[in-house]
Amino acid sequence: MITPATTLFGVEHPIVQTGMGWVSGSKLTAATANGGGLGIIASATMTFDQMVTAIDEVQAATDKPFGVNMRTDALDIDKRVQHLITSGVKVASFAQAPGEKIVKTLKDAGVVVMPTIGAPRHAEKVAEWGVDAVIAQGAEGGGHTGVIPTSLLIPSVLDAVDIPVIAAGGFFDGRGLAAALTYGAAGIAMGTRFMLTSDSEVDDSVKAVYMQTALTGTVVTKAIDGAPQRVVRTEVIDKLESAGPLGLPRAVANAIKFRKLTGTSIPDLLREGLTMKKNQNLTWSQLAMAANAPMLTKATMVDGELDVGILPTGQGVGAIDSLPTSAEVIAQVMAEAEEALRKVQSWT
Ligand SMILES: Cc1cc2nc3c(=O)[nH]c(=O)nc-3n(C[C@H](O)[C@H](O)[C@H](O)COP(=O)(O)O)c2cc1C
Repeated sequence: MITPATTLFGVEHPIVQTGMGWVSGSKLTAATANGGGLGIIASATMTFDQMVTAIDEVQAATDKPFGVNMRTDALDIDKRVQHLITSGVKVASFAQAPGEKIVKTLKDAGVVVMPTIGAPRHAEKVAEWGVDAVIAQGAEGGGHTGVIPTSLLIPSVLDAVDIPVIAAGGFFDGRGLAAALTYGAAGIAMGTRFMLTSDSEVDDSVKAVYMQTALTGTVVTKAIDGAPQRVVRTEVIDKLESAGPLGLPRAVANAIKFRKLTGTSIPDLLREGLTMKKNQNLTWSQLAMAANAPMLTKATMVDGELDVGILPTGQGVGAIDSLPTSAEVIAQVMAEAEEALRKVQSWT
């Protein structure tokens, strides 16, 4: 199947495995690339050196194109962007709008720029800056997410911009891909479906909890870091929602722990916190929550500590009950999509 997405990324199938912090390392990304989709390394939770190693590992495991997801407000973002360029990474993905300067630098070097957006006006803004494609993530999606459902976001973003739109938020099978293509999207991006594969780096005990979660088992909460985030509803979330912010001392301790992991010095940590507070107009208590969030995710995803951590996920988790390989997911989604499209054609 050839779509504007397969052509833009140089991959076989119009399926993107998104960058997911603590989840999509080199193993999942390489497995997706070898399965014919676009795999994306999540580097927001990696030090610069870890990102370099992850890129090296993917390049050792495949000669197929892949992407790297980054935080635009990372202090070393320029260094990361330069490394993507020199190492020949095909796609740069961003959770937030990357800014005109970063878009230009990457595009001048031939790197495909693809931010994730959750509203048509955000798509218009990044399209004006010259990005090559957008992932439009509807409210059903995992992690930080907007309020517009996928079924309304996709047509409005398609109407708003002229670049390839990759539909995301709640996709888990080939019927979803067929529907997205019929809307006019160039492909789909999936997070939760790829998180629940044998190639993802999440502990098996944590995968088991996800697999038991029903379609009604998730919630969007601002109690984690001040921005709406979809997670499995657990006791930890109920406590966070009823007790409010975890308190400044714990936030500072968690922020220091996380920054140590990502190689940030204390002066840089303070500078980053103050810049975040100013740019995102956060109150001190929101800043404290934001500082806590990465460690709350790491606690579950990496350390398997289900009693203290959080479980980011899309609503699609309720429709998933198997742990195939990434390549098997891609093959099955493609077969189902082709079947669904054939069926509709036979009716016309
Ligand atoms: C565990 C988890 C971690 C995530 N981390 C990131 C991240 O680091 N950067 C990012 O841009 N998006 C992140 N996301 C969002 C996904 O990249 C993707 O857009 C979303 O999962 C799509 O919706 P779906 O889960 O319904 O497929 C995360 C999602 C999950 C479930």
